[in-house]
Amino acid sequence: MPMPTSSPDIATPGAGSTGSDASVASVASIVFSLHGVTKTYQMGEVEVHALSDVDLELRAGEFLVLLGASGSGKSTLLNILGGLDTPTAGTLHYLDHDLTHAGDLALTRFRREHVGFVFQFYNLIPSLTALENVQLVTEISDDPMSAVDALSMVGLQDRLHHFPAQLSGGEQQRVAIARAIAKRPDLLLCDEPTGALDFRTGKLVLQVLERVNRELGTTTAIITHNAAIAGMADRVVYLSSGRIVRIESNAHRVSPEEIEW
Ligand SMILES: Nc1ncnc2c1ncn2[C@@H]1O[C@H](COP(=O)(O)OP(=O)(O)OP(=O)(O)O)[C@@H](O)[C@H]1O
Ligand SMILES: [Mg+2]
Repeated sequence: MPMPTSSPDIATPGAGSTGSDASVASVASIVFSLHGVTKTYQMGEVEVHALSDVDLELRAGEFLVLLGASGSGKSTLLNILGGLDTPTAGTLHYLDHDLTHAGDLALTRFRREHVGFVFQFYNLIPSLTALENVQLVTEISDDPMSAVDALSMVGLQDRLHHFPAQLSGGEQQRVAIARAIAKRPDLLLCDEPTGALDFRTGKLVLQVLERVNRELGTTTAIITHNAAIAGMADRVVYLSSGRIVRIESNAHRVSPEEIEW
């Protein structure tokens, strides 16, 4: 399994060796595999090829960055990985689950048990506090961390009772990250998580994502338009016109603090 059986105590970050550090990615097993994945939308007479013949394997614990021009298929790929969408052709496996022909029920279960999502806009419920927004998820999960621990992990232990309108954009995004990680997902999928944030705030959010990946061993994929972020990744996947045109491995991951853009 991609998650360590004994997760590090998130209340004492950095305590001891967790066995789930970034180096896992280089030797880790494959958790996700896509082969020949194609997604075609029929728009009247016109076929839109959002993805064409995509092969990709995700390794346990790795940090992946997806780059590509607008319309290149990044969100389509992420949505298929997360079970929000299904391919038109090709195969899709998560560990020993064959998701290729999964129906709505199976996909819903897959998402609930294994996937955390973070989007550009935070989708928090305005009438609930930060704590309550995260508790919505912890109450329906099998083995969640506490909502307070999740919010502490993103540095918001002093903002538990703030409503979204009382939080900055970066803080709201960190609540959204806490919500996504509270159920201890195996896979964390982020679609332009810093897209609505300024440089300084975006960096803070990236630090949180890097920390979650390092301390919890969560396999993480991030879409961005910002090529500077690629340095943070174990591997960088470049998409163009619905195809993966290049995958680069970074020998060393750059910490978000060192990234400039
Ligand atoms: N529901 C849909 N119906 C029809 N076409 C779609 C649909 N969703 C996406 N597409 C098309 O598929 C292609 C890939 O879209 P996708 O959203 O994956 O791109 P993207 O790389 O995420 O772009 P951006 O950086 O702008 O978010 C685009 O040409 C888009 O117009
Ligand atoms: Mg997109």
